[in-house]
This record gives sequence, C-alpha cells and structure tokens, in this order.
Amino acid sequence: MNGQILHGGDLISASARYNIPQDQWLDLSTGINPDSYPVGELATEVFQRLPYQQQVFADAVTGYYGTDEWLAVNGSQPVIQALPLCLEKLPVLLPDVGYDEHRHHWAANGNPLAFYPAFDLNAASDQIERRLSKGEPFHLVVINPNNPTGLEFSKVQLCNWAERLAGKGCLIVDEAFIDTQPAISVLNEPLSDKLIVLRSFGKFFGLAGLRLGFVFASDQLRSQLQQRLGIWQVNGVAQGVATNALSDLDWQRGARQDITLNAERTALLLAPLMDALQPDRVAQTPLFSSWQLDADIAAQVQDLLAQQGVLVRLIPLSERKALLRTGIISRYNWDAIDRLDGAVNACIELLNHQGEAHV
Ligand SMILES: Cc1ncc(COP(=O)(O)O)c(C=O)c1O
Repeated sequence: MNGQILHGGDLISASARYNIPQDQWLDLSTGINPDSYPVGELATEVFQRLPYQQQVFADAVTGYYGTDEWLAVNGSQPVIQALPLCLEKLPVLLPDVGYDEHRHHWAANGNPLAFYPAFDLNAASDQIERRLSKGEPFHLVVINPNNPTGLEFSKVQLCNWAERLAGKGCLIVDEAFIDTQPAISVLNEPLSDKLIVLRSFGKFFGLAGLRLGFVFASDQLRSQLQQRLGIWQVNGVAQGVATNALSDLDWQRGARQDITLNAERTALLLAPLMDALQPDRVAQTPLFSSWQLDADIAAQVQDLLAQQGVLVRLIPLSERKALLRTGIISRYNWDAIDRLDGAVNACIELLNHQGEAHV
C-alpha cells in the first residue's frame, strides 16, 4: 500500500492509500474548525502587491492578542523549526506525547532531550518541578492545551516556571488550540524575556491553508527569527483575511459557541463506537478528542473508518497503545452527519463480525 499518512488532514496520501477521491472524504483527522471564517471578497491589491505589513493588519493583531510584542509568520510551524537554531543549545524538556514537530526539530539540532508525561497534570508538574529544582539551565516546551492529550496547565503555573528557568533557559508555550478559551492564555500575563508563545491562526478560524501564525517573544528573539525566516512570510491574502477575522468579535463569540455545540454533536455520533471500544482514557477538547486504545484495535478502527471514507488520526504511543484522534463536524452539515453515523455503525458491525469469527 502506498500513501503513508504523516500529519492530520493529509487527504492526498489517504486517497492514494484507500483509492477514494479527495473530495469524497469526511476529514476528521485534524482539529481545524469546520465552520471557517467567511473569507468574502478581497481587494485585488492583496494579490497584486508585495505583502509589506499593513498597519490595519498590525492593529487587528494587537487588538486580538492584547500585546504588540509579536512577529507574524507563515503558520507557527516555521517558528517550531527555527527556534532550536536561535536559542542557546541547552537540554530540552518536552511532553512525551504532543505535536511531534517540536521533538523532531530539537532532536535534529542535537539538543539533548528529556520528556515529561503528557496525560496526567500532577505527574507532569512533578517532573517539571524536579527538573527545575536541580537549578541547571534547560528549555521547557509546553503545548497548552496539548495536542493530542488535552493536558492543560494554568497560566500562573506557566509564568512561575518561566521565571524559575536558570541561565538562558526559555519556556516555549505552543497555544495552537487555545483560541476557544482565550482566558487561559499566558498572553494575559506580563510577558517575560524567558517566555516564547506560539499562536496558530488556522485552527480556530478554520483557515489552515492560509498559513498564518504568530510568535510572541523578546525584541531580540523576534528580530533573530525575522532574519532567519526572511521577508514576506505573510502574504497579502492572509493579511487581508486576518485583518477582518481578528477584528470580528461577533464571529469569534459565535464560533466559540458553535464549536462547543459541534463538539457535542460529534461526540454523540461517536458514542456508540466509544461504548463498543471502551477506551483506556479519553481526552476531550473543543476542537478534538483522543481515545487511548490497544494499538492493534486503534489501527483496525482507523482502517475500517477510512474504508468508509472517514479519516481519523492514528497516533502510535508504544508497541501496545495508540491514540485515535477525531476532530469535529459542523452540526449543520447533514451529509457529514449521515456519513459519520453510517461509518460508525458499519465499523461496529465489522468489529462484531470479526469478534464472532474469532470465537
Ligand atoms: C500543537 C500544534 N502546534 C503547531 C502546529 C502548526 O500549525 P500551524 O503551522 O498551522 O500554525 C500544529 C499543527 O497541527 C499543532 O497541532
């Protein structure tokens, strides 16, 4: 079989693997809001002109995030790639499960890595505290809330850890999924030079293809990143759309309510499958949920759903365990509701059938 699926939303590989055309998938493999911000008509200039940073865009960004200490980038991904090259080469403490690009780029840069458990708040905090108490410099990476485990630290806790990091150690807080609950963002606290915050525009606004993100950091680090990433990181279309979206408080309020209701509807549709599978644990966040299962069962369910044209994300944890992560559907998308309902029932039937065959 060809078409190895690397990240969520990879319909090209899924199509190649399952021989289902891209436009026939129900994609539940990401945590992207399915009811995206309506882009509307854009001025022709945003396509024609070179994308120098517009003042209206800057004002909208500062208004939304509540600080002007940002650098706009082509999604938070390029910052994840560039940070190891810009920061002091220190050991790094990361979540043992999380958006894997962090681990990948620190490892590629040769930083020694250590991990804290990413499912349990107390166990994670204990491990971070133990490391801090040694007084040796290191960088700490936190994904808040964690994708895919849902682990969430308080902003007070995070700021306290940032203050206590020794030497040139920094705290990197990836808030890609925080826009549904902005009150818990560390950006509400005074920013210290030891704190670096990443924000992703694509998830909450449902426009991941636009490629827009922001990094909040000291002046010095922002200019280092800017030099490394180069000019025109954010194109004119992204600036035009984001200027409207970031200023549209009514849409943002409505989207938060819709996401909650869509998550409830999705959970209801998946409930029979959850009952049948009895996951070891379940992480529920507004834009995605993750179920921990035996690795072979998780792979089987992912495969059975994919055969029905429903793509969910399989995240291996160990030889024995894996996560199935599902995004949300729009509760007004009747086709998606029917598809998911049908696929869940078909999947349960096939699992039962296989169970009987093995008796
Ligand atoms: C936790 C987390 N951080 C960062 C990213 C990168 O997103 P983007 O480059 O679109 O901002 C992702 C993408 O899925 C993610 O899950």
